[in-house]
Amino acid sequence: MKASASGKIILFGEHAVVYNRPALAVPVTQVHVDVEVLDSPRAGIFINAPGINLHAGLNALPADHPIGSVILKLFQHCGISQTPGLEINIVSSIPVAAGLGSGAAVSVALIRALSSFLLCPLSDDEINLLVYESEKYHHGTPSGIDNTVITYAMPVYFIKGKPIEIFKVGKPFTIVIGDTGIPAPTKESVSDLRRMWLKDSTTFEEFFNEIAQIALIARRSIESGKPELLGDLMDHNHSLLQEMTISSPELDKLVEAARNAGALGAKLSGSGRGGNMIALVEQAKAESVAGALMSTGATRTIITEIS
Ligand code: MEV
Repeated sequence: MKASASGKIILFGEHAVVYNRPALAVPVTQVHVDVEVLDSPRAGIFINAPGINLHAGLNALPADHPIGSVILKLFQHCGISQTPGLEINIVSSIPVAAGLGSGAAVSVALIRALSSFLLCPLSDDEINLLVYESEKYHHGTPSGIDNTVITYAMPVYFIKGKPIEIFKVGKPFTIVIGDTGIPAPTKESVSDLRRMWLKDSTTFEEFFNEIAQIALIARRSIESGKPELLGDLMDHNHSLLQEMTISSPELDKLVEAARNAGALGAKLSGSGRGGNMIALVEQAKAESVAGALMSTGATRTIITEIS
């Protein structure tokens, strides 16, 4: 049994979304996780995930291992106490700890493949909830945006704890994604930010409110077919993230390079401190902006059309 899940980018509102402000995220189908579940002659469950150098039996994984815990949560949900021998192969083209949703995508694809194999069909809502639980192992206080955009594979306007809103794209637009190549675990930036917020909640609440306004205006611009307005909003969102200490010199360099190469705006995307940035470009300039990012040190670029 096989299943896949794609990556994602956050267009606006990362981090503030953990504090109940709105954020916009879209799937990125150019990168994905593919999971295959096979019968195995040997007893127990064996997992191969070469991308993270994991070749181990389920029993050998620590209790809080993100992959092991997803499997156990699924068994619990489906009332399964014993399984035949199984082999699970996980292959991913989504870079780890890079803000593209690799953890959530592994969980979504794994739950889809395994639940079908075990004849325990699940709705997207059930999958989303199970993956949200597993996201807590990746970073203590997830907003739930990653699991939501990846499970439903649609553009989402997300507010923690509120019903999911899918937003419409009035006119397609092009985004160039640039990877700093620096892994940056979400857990660290999210918990750092929490410390700073606890120390100076007035300042950080103001940052979050400003970001919430940006996300609101961005949604309106996208829905009303005026994506060109997103450039300034990206620049503004990035400068707030810089003030919140969520950017890094490498991210700033790529953001600057994209703007100098003609992007309409650019910002970091995801948990920051490393990982990926995004730039809004006119379609005709996508290749040259991607080239400028590569010559400024990006380890990879992806051109994606949001439609
Ligand atoms: C990570 O993709 C997005 C963050 O806002 C964390 C979260 O929403 O859980 C940094």
